[in-house]
Amino acid sequence: MEKQKATDKQRKLLLRTARGAMKKAYAPYSNFRVGSALLTTSGKVFSGCNVENASYGMTNCAERTAIFSAVAQLGPKLEIRALAVVNDHGVPCSPCGACRQVIYEFGPDATVFYQGAKGEKEAHITALLPEGFRLK
Ligand code: THU
Repeated sequence: MEKQKATDKQRKLLLRTARGAMKKAYAPYSNFRVGSALLTTSGKVFSGCNVENASYGMTNCAERTAIFSAVAQLGPKLEIRALAVVNDHGVPCSPCGACRQVIYEFGPDATVFYQGAKGEKEAHITALLPEGFRLK
């Protein structure tokens, strides 16, 4: 896989696309809307929002919605170069543990953009998920 970091322009595009997706969120239980957008290594962008459920545990985070949507449209060869996540409360929000594992599956070299405790942050997926699990 060609290793290439996302450019500043791509980061801005991902954040803008994530904010657009956030408006589609189905979050009647938490009222916490989240949007995510990812960039593939071939330059395509896919987005997703959180989709909650009355059985709370069935909720799908925005990041996984974006990834599953990308696989549904591209097929199994998805390679994530970068992924952004935003929320409508303007509070720190990094991907949850489950989403980190799913990001790692398709993006072991991915850069993640999110809001940290001191503002916008960027981290390599392996910094967020040390020793991520892989079968291959
Ligand atoms: N949520 C996400 O979609 N992504 C995150 O990174 C953190 C949490 C959603 C799940 C749930 O719908 C709501 O935010 C509150 O936890």
